[in-house]
Amino acid sequence: MDSHMRFSDHDNALLLLDQRYLPLRDEWYACTGLDDTIFALQTMVIRGAPAIGVTAAYGCYLCVRETLAEMGAEVGANGKWEEVLAEKLAKLKAARPTAVNLRWAVDIMDEIWKSHPGVSLAALGTLWLCKAKEMHEEDIEINKRMGDYGATQLEDGDTVMTHCNAGALATAGWGTALGVIYSAVAQGMDIKVIANETRPFLQGARLTAYELQKSGVDVTVATDNMCALLMQKGMVNKVVVGADRIAANGDAANKIGTFGVAIMAKHFGIPFYVAAPSSTFDLQCASGDLIPIEERTPREVTHPTNESQIVPDDVPVYTFAFDVTPNELVTGIITEKGILRPPYSEAIQKKIAPRKMGAFG
Ligand code: MRU
Repeated sequence: MDSHMRFSDHDNALLLLDQRYLPLRDEWYACTGLDDTIFALQTMVIRGAPAIGVTAAYGCYLCVRETLAEMGAEVGANGKWEEVLAEKLAKLKAARPTAVNLRWAVDIMDEIWKSHPGVSLAALGTLWLCKAKEMHEEDIEINKRMGDYGATQLEDGDTVMTHCNAGALATAGWGTALGVIYSAVAQGMDIKVIANETRPFLQGARLTAYELQKSGVDVTVATDNMCALLMQKGMVNKVVVGADRIAANGDAANKIGTFGVAIMAKHFGIPFYVAAPSSTFDLQCASGDLIPIEERTPREVTHPTNESQIVPDDVPVYTFAFDVTPNELVTGIITEKGILRPPYSEAIQKKIAPRKMGAFG
């Protein structure tokens, strides 16, 4: 798939393929400052934990640009820019609550700032832009490494079920769960994919189907409630999903509905894998019950295509956007550092903890 996120040095803008309009039309959205970056994150112009992280990294740089423009001559004269910038970063970090990659990216930029005491705002901007570009490229490399590890778990002829979109569109490129499939296909395996449609925002039907089709991978969309039947009929060999945050014990938050898929996979004895980079692990979260679950606007449930209303006026709806799959349902966690196996607390301490913050650093 062609790149869906690009930084334009000429315009000092992050250009994003607007995922709200896929698969029907390609429209680009430009982030040039804090507000439009937050808008892009919150309305899901861009979404998916690793892509959110890379967007946030560029967003930090855009905050510097904006601060320079707003404060002009004041910058350097009275030192106030530090507070202004810190306030912007705090807002950026709070844009979405579940995907830990957002906090992770802003924290890396913060560390760079702290390790350059007395740095000028302009010089900090240069450092941050350079880091954001590095994170952008490195995310693709990490996904390819993860994909190669994950492909060892698939067999020629497998049909893989996935939930939501953890593909190129959810990352800087290649993807996490779909990266495993792309790697297996690149190695010559014949893999078919069942993409669960993923209510309410329909990332599976709209985005996973879009990018797999574009890449020539055999994909069929199933409504979320077909999952048990497909498994019962023996039509699913493996499940591979992404994650938005993984706790220190291996409990994994992913798009709403994933937990149910994992329970069904267990029932039918189907291996269930989570694929995520080390930046998605939150070692400060001891277990999944501490992961914040985003609740979104009711409109996403009541108006699935934004035009058509499917719920009567004034009937309340649930708006949870994520759920947490307990680690005991997970066969393996595929990372760029290898495949983690139970007991996950130990595997995560051994493989992920040592370089967690410095994955790009
Ligand atoms: O709300 P989203 O679309 O940002 O949710 C994130 C996801 O796409 C998934 O939960 C995904 O499976 C993990 S992110 C690679």
